[in-house]
Amino acid sequence: MIDPRKGFDLRDIETTADIVIPTDPLERVIGQDEAIYIAKIAAMQHRNLLLVGPPGTGKSMIAQAISLHLPRPSEEIRVVHNPQNPERPLVEVRNAEELRKEEEELKSAEGILIDPQEAPIHVAEKLGYRCSKCGAYSSPEETVCPRCGQPKTPPANAPFGDIFGSISAAFGISSYPQRVTTTVIENGEDKIIVYERAGDKIRVLDEKMMEKRREIEKKKPYKVIVPLKRNPFVLATGASETELLGDVRHDPYGGHPQLGTPPYKRVVPGAVHEAHQGVLFVDEITHLGDLQRYILTALQEKKFPISGRNSQSAGASVRVDDVPCDFILVAACNIQDLPHILSPLRSRIMGDGYEVLMKTTMPDTPKNRAKYAQFIAQEIAMDGRIPHASREAMLAIIEEGRRRAKVIDNEANALTLRLRDLGGLIRAAGDLAVMNGEKLIEKKHVEKAVEIARPVEEKIEKKYGSLESGLMSDVSKSQKPPYNYWNESDASGYQ
Ligand SMILES: Nc1ncnc2c1ncn2[C@@H]1O[C@H](COP(=O)(O)OP(=O)(O)O)[C@@H](O)[C@H]1O
Ligand SMILES: [Mg+2]
Repeated sequence: MIDPRKGFDLRDIETTADIVIPTDPLERVIGQDEAIYIAKIAAMQHRNLLLVGPPGTGKSMIAQAISLHLPRPSEEIRVVHNPQNPERPLVEVRNAEELRKEEEELKSAEGILIDPQEAPIHVAEKLGYRCSKCGAYSSPEETVCPRCGQPKTPPANAPFGDIFGSISAAFGISSYPQRVTTTVIENGEDKIIVYERAGDKIRVLDEKMMEKRREIEKKKPYKVIVPLKRNPFVLATGASETELLGDVRHDPYGGHPQLGTPPYKRVVPGAVHEAHQGVLFVDEITHLGDLQRYILTALQEKKFPISGRNSQSAGASVRVDDVPCDFILVAACNIQDLPHILSPLRSRIMGDGYEVLMKTTMPDTPKNRAKYAQFIAQEIAMDGRIPHASREAMLAIIEEGRRRAKVIDNEANALTLRLRDLGGLIRAAGDLAVMNGEKLIEKKHVEKAVEIARPVEEKIEKKYGSLESGLMSDVSKSQKPPYNYWNESDASGYQ
């Protein structure tokens, strides 16, 4: 196997199976050395990044790779019920260590689970596990003893005693209590022990555990809106206002204390919050239009309130202030969109980060040919449905990369880095190999795929000499004006 990081000569390998694919996602990006260098700085120093360039050159790949180069998120964000003012829930941030302690505390208040047979007989009977008539054990949900067929009634169920128990048992309603409190004498002292129903088992709690549990229950209820374990890469491309900034859901009962869902439970985080301690990736940033200014605010403040964004909804009166959103912004756009980026946002990125112009070609050198081979191996591995490529097939793909650099970017002796499209070509060649039942992608498959993958415009030009004459040939007599006005307006698009 050949490790591409050390560089290799294409003559050293037979097929793409000989190439080791790097595990570091940044090393899988080929031909964008400057962008990768800056991406590493951004991850290390927590800087923002604007990637400028045409589609399919690796912008999304780099953004995602940055998120994997960051330390794991260490904080969980919660929205906590505010008893003084339920419509102003509070924010709480817990770090990993605090979360671990909380979990431990909960565990210590959990008590011990025992089998009903291990409990004192009167406890097992009171809780409904044991039949007081025949002594058989069954679930408290079963109101009739499965062995003797008698109603399983709690002994002396005051004040109605057996009668009430029998009636409810007849209706299939279990009337057993959830818990029984007993006292035992230990070392001459009275000690309280509580037995609780816990499914098939009985839970035993002592005084200390009960105390802990009361403490935990006293704590205010909360909702985790950004969990500790989360994806550090958040996509906000084409996000709506609520997707970007969060929302408070509507409640038809308007937070009515009994019927409604309390406000804190209806709070939904936005992409800016979910990207806390991670990467917020906004492809085609200019498509966000006006929303760009909210991103600017979020970047400056590192927190953003969540409020109900639909004024018609009961959520509109709810607001959570100061929800943390400390993310690295990776934005991307085409060159022609640059003027439409909100200028204070752009100066913010430049002031606290970097702008990178993506390369569209790289020089055709032996080293870069090896990188192309690595790219081909990666695309094949990622697809998973196509076979490896022979060396001749790799050379044919490189040839096509050369041709595209010349045709699209007018660069001689170069290889195209518009690699999404070239990936499509590799998959098409792979499909042909599969259809022909062959074990490798060969040169002939690549050549055929090149033919198929040509944009229709190129095919039309080849057949009709030019796009215009192709267009005319498509219009039959019946479609001549005034009937084909829609074709007319379409045609103008090509001129
Ligand atoms: N520089 C590159 N190195 C390796 N593969 C690439 C590169 N650029 C694009 N690709 C391939 O094309 C696909 C799309 O790339 P992407 O990062 O989404 O491009 P962009 O975000 O610039 O439109 C990637 O998943 C990868 O398969
Ligand atoms: Mg992309």
